[in-house]
Amino acid sequence: MLPILVMNGILLAIAILLIIAERFLVTYGKCKITINKENILTVEGGNSLLSYFSENKIFIPSACGGKATCGYCKVEVLSGGGHILPTEEVFINREDKLKGIRLSCQVKVKNDIEVLISDDLLEAKEYKTKVLRIEDLTRDIKYVVMKLEEPQEINFKPGQYIQFRIPESEEFRAYSIASIPSVKTEIELIVRLVPGGLCSSYVHEVLDVHDQITVTGPYGDFYLREDSLREIICIGGGCGMAPIRSIIFHLREKGMPRKITYFFGARSKSDLFYTKELQSIETQFPNFKYIPVLSEPKPEDKWTGETGFVTQAVERHMYSNGNTEAYLCGPPPMIDAAIKVLTRKGVHEIHIYYDKF
Ligand SMILES: Cc1cc2nc3c(=O)[nH]c(=O)nc-3n(C[C@H](O)[C@H](O)[C@H](O)COP(=O)(O)OP(=O)(O)OC[C@H]3O[C@@H](n4cnc5c(N)ncnc54)[C@H](O)[C@@H]3O)c2cc1C
Ligand code: FES
Repeated sequence: MLPILVMNGILLAIAILLIIAERFLVTYGKCKITINKENILTVEGGNSLLSYFSENKIFIPSACGGKATCGYCKVEVLSGGGHILPTEEVFINREDKLKGIRLSCQVKVKNDIEVLISDDLLEAKEYKTKVLRIEDLTRDIKYVVMKLEEPQEINFKPGQYIQFRIPESEEFRAYSIASIPSVKTEIELIVRLVPGGLCSSYVHEVLDVHDQITVTGPYGDFYLREDSLREIICIGGGCGMAPIRSIIFHLREKGMPRKITYFFGARSKSDLFYTKELQSIETQFPNFKYIPVLSEPKPEDKWTGETGFVTQAVERHMYSNGNTEAYLCGPPPMIDAAIKVLTRKGVHEIHIYYDKF
């Protein structure tokens, strides 16, 4: 028994020494990172691709600080990235693997390396902002307005998100932009408190008017397809209101060119917000319909509207239609159930766009 323990101890000590040696003694010299076959970064090797991107103001999304738990920092590695690591496997499917997609936080630069980064990601910038307003929307959801100070304007598509940096830390969290793209000088966020959560607790308990906050973005492929004429179904829950608000308010500004039905799920009446604004759009545009759905209405709510899960209301109200596209945002079980209902109703999966959180 004892020799096995001793052997294990020795192996562990060797492994630790190797890690320390690699960290402090091994140098990889100058390495070239070629981006999109034209831009070359020359770096002193040894760190992750993600860290070199960040040092060079290329803002690849990353919500876990490089711990390989968010899966956002994907880029296409054409050569020099080495083998895919076990930490990446869970985020990289077969199709991604064939394309050479990797988590940039897990790819250590040890030699010259070639990568492809989409133009959208290369456009993401860092913004210094100042908090203008914070309001309670419900008991656990806050509305935050931030003015952009440097640069002073942002271009984004309705539905996209930014990453909010918790001051004095390297922690980032994604928040969908709730405002409309035509207002370029401010961004509005809708943040739900996650008990024990780092960033949402910061926003709810520490953040104050006039605070300076750094955000990066915009990011994401969940955005309104403006070149389509299809009818739209939106399904949201909780803070999933944020990107859908941006989409609907943007379409209102354009004169509501398409038919939209918005199903919004909440527990009870006190969890509903923006009801008046959405109802006033209904009055203005007959082709917009807002259907709030309560899963646990309280007796004092005197609720006469839709009840049950939001997806049950979609099942009841939606007729089969192959000419519809859907925008879904909310918790993963809601999105999974909504995809099932929509595909049963004839919506093609390629026309279902979603952000789960
Ligand atoms: C594309 C995208 C868009 C998003 N948009 C929005 C949005 O518009 N609005 C919004 O509110 N959110 C949004 N989110 C979610 C947001 O990014 C954060 O994930 C969320 O705010 C929680 O972050 P946090 O730092 O508060 O929690 P984290 O610290 O990341 O914690 C996450 C989980 O771990 C648990 N936990 C943390 N610390 C402890 C501890 N000490 N003990 C026990 N449990 C613990 C928490 O309870 C929680 O369940 C979005 C996410 C994505 C991916
Ligand atoms: S930064 Fe989160 S997985 Fe890479």
